[in-house]
Amino acid sequence: MIIASNFKTNHTRKSTREFITQINNFVKNNSLDVQVRIYPALTALDSFECEKSIKIGAQNFYPTCKGSFTGEIGFEQLEEFGVDSVLIGHSERRHILKENNELLVKKFNFAKEQGVEILYCVGEPKEVREKGIDAVMAYILGQFDGIDLDYKRLVIAYEPVWAIGTGLTASNNDIKEVLKRLKVNIQKPLLYGGSVQVDNVGDILNIKNCDGVLIGTASWEKENFCKIIDTAQKIRRVKL
Ligand code: PGA
Repeated sequence: MIIASNFKTNHTRKSTREFITQINNFVKNNSLDVQVRIYPALTALDSFECEKSIKIGAQNFYPTCKGSFTGEIGFEQLEEFGVDSVLIGHSERRHILKENNELLVKKFNFAKEQGVEILYCVGEPKEVREKGIDAVMAYILGQFDGIDLDYKRLVIAYEPVWAIGTGLTASNNDIKEVLKRLKVNIQKPLLYGGSVQVDNVGDILNIKNCDGVLIGTASWEKENFCKIIDTAQKIRRVKL
């Protein structure tokens, strides 16, 4: 089970360090073994001493080791901090930063060559959801065009665009149906993301085929994130 926190454009170097230290102590003192991922702002990356189950990843990178790409970060810079997990395809990068499939495939292939864990995000906008489950699946499967689903360090996050940062969580039945259909084609861990909260994370993690969650807003407070990790740890792997 993977519990991931995406800081997006939040936290400073100082508060990131405090957050990671507290989460690490919580995991260590309670001997927890849930897999934890934290994706801080790139400026707050550093060499953190963490338990084996915790990885500090990068929210973004440019598909290069180094070069002339003003404002971008390559793998030479990420490697300085031992980054071993990256996010690709997050809806904010697709929709706000206009990253298209071609660039996402380039990023994916580059990260794959580096051998890092890839958390690849997919999800439909509201107008597609309104057309029903077949339209949703066609849209999501299209987002896998050119993506190597056999990559051994691939993790998928299903995040409906309309549920991200809006407080609107997809219903448990909707999540269950999408994950069930994804599992037919993809034998990789499947996470759900989109307004996951301290109060609903238990129900979501109990959904069949749900192998974890990717959380924004509700994970930015240390205490909340600890509660979420604690809930995840307690959930039995015997699912619905
Ligand atoms: P949210 O963000 O939890 O604030 O909805 C989720 C995400 O963007 O991964």
